[in-house]
Amino acid sequence: MPSSRIPGFYNLSLAERLAQAAAAADQNPETLAPWTSGGLSPEAADHMIENVIGLHSLPVGLGLNFLINGREVLVPMAVEEPSVVAGASFMAKLARAGGGFSATTTDPLMIGQMQVINIANLHEAKFKIYEQKVELLALADSIDPVLKKFGGGARDLEVRTIEDSAIGGFLVIHLIYDVRDAMGANAVNTACERLAPQVERITGGKVHLRILSNLADRRITRVRCTVPVNELAFGDFSGETVRDGIIAAYAFAAVDPYRAATHNKGIMNGVDAVVLATGNDWRAIEAGAHAYAARSGQYTSLSTWGKDAEGNLVGTLEMPMAVGIIGGATKVHPAAKAAIQLMGIKTASELAEIIVSVGLAQNMAALRALATEGIQRGHMSLHARQVAVAAGAQGEMIEKVAAQMVAEKTVRIDRAEEILKEMK
Ligand code: MEV
Repeated sequence: MPSSRIPGFYNLSLAERLAQAAAAADQNPETLAPWTSGGLSPEAADHMIENVIGLHSLPVGLGLNFLINGREVLVPMAVEEPSVVAGASFMAKLARAGGGFSATTTDPLMIGQMQVINIANLHEAKFKIYEQKVELLALADSIDPVLKKFGGGARDLEVRTIEDSAIGGFLVIHLIYDVRDAMGANAVNTACERLAPQVERITGGKVHLRILSNLADRRITRVRCTVPVNELAFGDFSGETVRDGIIAAYAFAAVDPYRAATHNKGIMNGVDAVVLATGNDWRAIEAGAHAYAARSGQYTSLSTWGKDAEGNLVGTLEMPMAVGIIGGATKVHPAAKAAIQLMGIKTASELAEIIVSVGLAQNMAALRALATEGIQRGHMSLHARQVAVAAGAQGEMIEKVAAQMVAEKTVRIDRAEEILKEMK
């Protein structure tokens, strides 16, 4: 099996990294070529959205050391923030010492919503829908023969009454739809639109909105990792100190929405980077994640951290993950296709499990730094390199200018410019 451990990767040139990544993932180097050009041509972009005037690039870094359900995965991450790729890779290395990440995913069930207004008797209408459920599901099921062929289709209907609102009462119908390897928005929206006339005939009301819900709480991915406590030790910090610091940091996020928002942002640093690299809809993932984090009525942490009977650190992360590997940008963006290929992904569930594993690793990286030396130290040297580049440093001068600023604890562009002048 190819390995996601590539010691010294950081020190290689860009071309060497690409060659090593291709070799490590058992791929033809051509597969990774889209990343050297940004992947998308202006002509292709012109067919994707409206009023196209050009392209917008982001760095893609490789998340290393990931072992997920016993499978080695090199994870492409598209992100502008320093420390994210390094943090995830380092934590994946620690998690690997405890067997890596264990992940499970529910069936890919998405929810389509229909809002039915102008109803004389809400309860009567609700019961009538349930009486016709079999027929409605059969109709919804016949809409997408391709999805059906791959085992997807309509699964259930649920009806709620909203007794009072700004417009009085109305019905909400949820169509539960198995979208297999698609993100599902198109399939679900189409199904809701097609069911609407029938729903109107049954209820005597008017179907107003017909749209997918981004609170994809039937499509959940769960990831767990165990980090041996001795692996957590570094510098003057014992493994127990780091472990207990991470658990105390989690306790804060669990009870305080102000902290939970930042804690979850750290998770999304990892999640979004992979979602973006694979051409998926990161706004949908963000919306679903935060709505899920607030499902109890109080916004809270998406992850948990504690210890097992042996005193090892145990982390879990559970969140909706509505990503696809067919349709949309995932199929037309060459870099997104390269990402799917590099990871050797065959199903959307597999992709979801990788994304949530990266989210958990990222969360651990942030909590470990926050609970020990603080976030700025690690951030500073990476940030310093960006500032050095912005000040005009090139080649080996980037590291020299950055190192000088870190030593002085002053990372500012005017100082970088001065150092550059002094060193020339
Ligand atoms: C910064 O992008 C993310 C963190 O703020 C996450 C956290 O506080 O847990 C470091």
